[in-house]
Amino acid sequence: YRKAAAATNIPTFLLVGPSGSGKTAFATLTERNTTTQTHTSTTPLTVSALLPEPHVPASSHYRSPGDPAFERSRRFLLLDTPGHGKLRHFATAQFVDPKNVRAIVFVVDAAAIAEEAGLNEAAEYLHDILLALQQRYTSAKSSKGPKDIPVLVAANKMDLFTALPANLVKIQLEKAISEVRSSRAKALRDAGAALSGGEDEVDEEKEWLGEGGEGAFEFAQMREIGTTVDVVGGNVISGKEGGDVAAWWAWMAEHL
Ligand code: GTP
Ligand code: MG
Repeated sequence: YRKAAAATNIPTFLLVGPSGSGKTAFATLTERNTTTQTHTSTTPLTVSALLPEPHVPASSHYRSPGDPAFERSRRFLLLDTPGHGKLRHFATAQFVDPKNVRAIVFVVDAAAIAEEAGLNEAAEYLHDILLALQQRYTSAKSSKGPKDIPVLVAANKMDLFTALPANLVKIQLEKAISEVRSSRAKALRDAGAALSGGEDEVDEEKEWLGEGGEGAFEFAQMREIGTTVDVVGGNVISGKEGGDVAAWWAWMAEHL
């Protein structure tokens, strides 16, 4: 019993993002410190890991390395989910009961983002994740609101020469999410008009991500609901040199 209770207290980082973006590769690297050939995931998988050196969990900044609490604080779980469109319910199910979800890592292929199809797929998925966070926040019973869940957009595959740099990944995603938002709102209005009775009317406001009005969507609007969104480049795998995901681990350390 005790063991199970202790296990449930380990913070979880939820890994989401389109298929082929590198989630399983990143989970493997974090767990074993090496990369292996991955295959597309069909089920979620939890791996247990220790925050790699020299990163220090924010909660342990004032502890010394010999302290057992320091070692414990480096433990976390990575919940790797399948990115295929038909399997995303595994990831979204986490929002029903996110008590151990400390943060979300949304992995994108920065080269795929350079193409319209890849950009739109990533934007739709990220839109839905952020909207789920917003709805969780606005429907919370307590006046304090639920615990903040930050999001890291891990812009992967920076070793590819076609990859967009992180600042452009951010701009492109914000633009594409603005479009997803408008087209979803239009679809809701059309559906509402077709119903005409008003019985099944959906609350449009609840389905609108971020600030209302005419302006474009920006990640900064998510601060209102306790979610910071950071876009950080990296690569899990590259030629002979091995990957470079230090900036992602540093981000995770800040939230551990
Ligand atoms: P699903 O399980 O289908 O959702 O995909 P996934 O996000 O888990 O992707 P996965 O980790 O299986 O990686 C997909 C492919 O991308 C694999 O062939 C990886 O070797 C490759 N890959 C991962 N990271 C990098 C990277 O940084 N650079 C390059 N060039 N390839 C990478
Ligand atoms: Mg996978």
